[in-house]
Amino acid sequence: MTYNLLNGKKGIIFGALDEKSIAWKVAEKAHEEGAVFTLSNTPLALRFGNLKELSLKCNSEIIPADATSVKDLESVFKRSMEIFGGKIDFILHSIGMSMNVRKSREYDNLDYNFYQKTIDISAMSFHKMIQVAKKSDAINDWGSIVALSYIAAQRTLYRYNDMADAKAMLESIARSFGYIYGREKNVRINTISQSPTMTTAGSGVKGIDALIDFTERMSPLGNATAEECANFCIVLFSDLSRKVTMQNIFHDGGFSGMGMSLKAMTQYKKCLEDE
Ligand SMILES: NC(=O)c1ccc[n+]([C@@H]2O[C@H](COP(=O)([O-])OP(=O)(O)OC[C@H]3O[C@@H](n4cnc5c(N)ncnc54)[C@H](O)[C@@H]3O)[C@@H](O)[C@H]2O)c1
Repeated sequence: MTYNLLNGKKGIIFGALDEKSIAWKVAEKAHEEGAVFTLSNTPLALRFGNLKELSLKCNSEIIPADATSVKDLESVFKRSMEIFGGKIDFILHSIGMSMNVRKSREYDNLDYNFYQKTIDISAMSFHKMIQVAKKSDAINDWGSIVALSYIAAQRTLYRYNDMADAKAMLESIARSFGYIYGREKNVRINTISQSPTMTTAGSGVKGIDALIDFTERMSPLGNATAEECANFCIVLFSDLSRKVTMQNIFHDGGFSGMGMSLKAMTQYKKCLEDE
């Protein structure tokens, strides 16, 4: 069902790689809801992913950019405004990567070059994106900026590693910049803390299937899918959430409110009996 929630809205979606990507689902939903937008990802991702397919489906131009490069980001905003003939209304930051996670380096044995890259790609790029947008006065009043986070920002989850630090920083940027951009331009900035989801980035965390099973058993509503996450992004881009800003909103089927559930306890008991 569609509601025309983004009719007339223009945006930029960063981070769609393939059909599994959360950003891919957001793009599909935004298109269905009447938005026009550009798509951006790294030149490498453009070579290995299927972004072309999405761009054809949504009639969206692809603008290559490494989100750690201010110069690249400036060209994304400039080109997007040229295409739209004016300012934009929403931005999705759906970007994350840790070489420490990929190479299974534990938190007490981090490679610091990788660590810096994790922070730059997964968190500082959010600041860069917003700063470029603000300096080029690219966003309409009451625009909306959303980034995707994870509960490891608040709690320790085995193997999430240096990405936890990046997510904590990402959420902090949403608050710090949310104050300034809200005060000056009524632009809102939020993060959505999503359930573990089987995407390319998600499957980089070894053991994610066990984590997904655990959070599914722990969450009263079950894990949130990428598609459900996309629906929530649309609400945050729409005019129906105009006074929501500087928030980290858990979109996790209730996992963040739980300590122990019947389903998880039943499974845990079975394991104890097997021992
Ligand atoms: N999958 C999960 O379990 C989960 C849970 C909570 C939050 N998230 C977050 O959702 C977001 C999207 O991830 P996803 O799960 O859809 O996986 P994904 O692999 O589909 O998306 C990650 C994207 O980041 C892009 N990227 C990496 N380096 C970049 C750079 N330097 N510049 C620009 N783009 C770059 C990749 O090309 C890719 O498109 C990430 O921030 C991730 O941390 C994911």
